[in-house]
Amino acid sequence: MKKIAKVISTPDFTKAAIRNLKSLPEYQYESVQIPEDIKNIGENKKYFIRTYGCQGNLRDSEVISGILNELKYTKTDDVNLADIIILNTCCVRENAEKKVFGEIGSLKNLKHNNPSLLIGVCGCMVQQEHIVNKILNDYQQVDIIFGTHNIHQLPLLIKEAIISNQRICNVLSNQGNIYEDLPSCRESTFKAFVNIMYGCNKFCTYCIVPYTRGQERSRKSKDILDEIKYLKENGYKEVTLLGQNVNAYGKDINDLSFAELMEQVALIGIERIRFTTSHPFDFSDELIDVIAKYPNIMKHIQLPVQSGDDKILKLMGRRYTRQQYLDLVTKIKERIPNVSLTTDIIVGFPNESLEAFENTLSLCEIVKYDSAFTFIYSPRENTPAAKMQDNVSLETKKERFNRLTSLIAKYELEKYKTYENKIVKVLVEGPSKKNEDILSGYTEDMKLVNFKGDKSSIGQIVNVKIIKAKTYTLEGEQVV
Ligand code: 5AD
Ligand code: SF4
Repeated sequence: MKKIAKVISTPDFTKAAIRNLKSLPEYQYESVQIPEDIKNIGENKKYFIRTYGCQGNLRDSEVISGILNELKYTKTDDVNLADIIILNTCCVRENAEKKVFGEIGSLKNLKHNNPSLLIGVCGCMVQQEHIVNKILNDYQQVDIIFGTHNIHQLPLLIKEAIISNQRICNVLSNQGNIYEDLPSCRESTFKAFVNIMYGCNKFCTYCIVPYTRGQERSRKSKDILDEIKYLKENGYKEVTLLGQNVNAYGKDINDLSFAELMEQVALIGIERIRFTTSHPFDFSDELIDVIAKYPNIMKHIQLPVQSGDDKILKLMGRRYTRQQYLDLVTKIKERIPNVSLTTDIIVGFPNESLEAFENTLSLCEIVKYDSAFTFIYSPRENTPAAKMQDNVSLETKKERFNRLTSLIAKYELEKYKTYENKIVKVLVEGPSKKNEDILSGYTEDMKLVNFKGDKSSIGQIVNVKIIKAKTYTLEGEQVV
């Protein structure tokens, strides 16, 4: 029998696109509200969370874990044992959405065998009205739909779903508030993601994120610094400061600039500081100087270029030219010796001619990235680019994608080869994915190292001698 759906609110793209730069975010300093009658609802029950997409989603999943822990649920890594399943979704490309629908489909049987199982879908994907409608209409097994702006309401939604025995949908379009002090259960005991801001105001024409994550909202620097001090006191070795465009930090609330914030973070003395992602448009000279000055700020910069062609950059709304990007790269390389530069590139954007694509290749030849995330353009409903005529055939896109990835791999291997016989510092994460007897971790400049070493060093920073470079990894041996 079909359950009734109680729709409290659905997303609206027009509202999500509004930017009201005069309105400051509201800060809520209270822990999540747990209704009295469900405070022990998770006793003897298990939760399972699957996270798709970026580090922002991973961090949100840690908060969802924290909330479910407060309701006394315990975590399981086996979806078959779960009493509540949460899929935290991504919609940056079509592939990500296809995977989620595949997974929701595969949960139908579990729900059939266990009708009291709760299935929740949240994250960026459900910030789109057409997706919410599709789930409500075609995926009866989903009980709870909530968005990126109201994770803190999860206990209330669980209560509604259980008590009213209805399907619940509550997705807000642009709440704009910042919730501090939410419970969270971090994945790692030695490296942590720390949000410094939410949302994006850049509206690159291909990108769905400004609509799904809302207006740029910075956390107060004091809250960020307190969180990092707490992490340091609790033995964390590495923090990654997160934002869609961290360089815009503080501009909305008249707080520190991103460069000033980085300096304050460096002074806390945590061993490794990373940040992601930087839009080249806002990358200040002060920031370059701060990165250069502090040894505990890692010399790795993810600097998405997206295209090396002026016409395409303009169509993408990226706000810089090829030359301006290259000038920034030159400046960074001059002031930060041995900096590792990585990037994101989209191929097959509408109107990308062969010449335009080759401009991207030639830019990569000049910059010689340490590595790059490369994507085939994927039209996202309601974005300006989706309305452009996509005149590049899929075959051409694939062919260009292959040319680009092999060029990137060539420079990557060249760079990785320079590490052979050198000793690097690695933060040991655990056994490698492929071989339990081998450890793995990242260098200061974000290279994955698989090495023979001592398991007791998990969570520590150790010296590893690199023996062999492969295209995407380094192999080595721990040394004292
Ligand atoms: N199609 C392909 N790639 C995209 N990205 C964002 N939107 C799209 C899209 N519609 C890529 C960009 C961005 C990264 C996170 O994902 O390269 O930097
Ligand atoms: Fe998307 Fe551009 Fe914002 Fe990055 S800066 S999240 S690509 S709109």
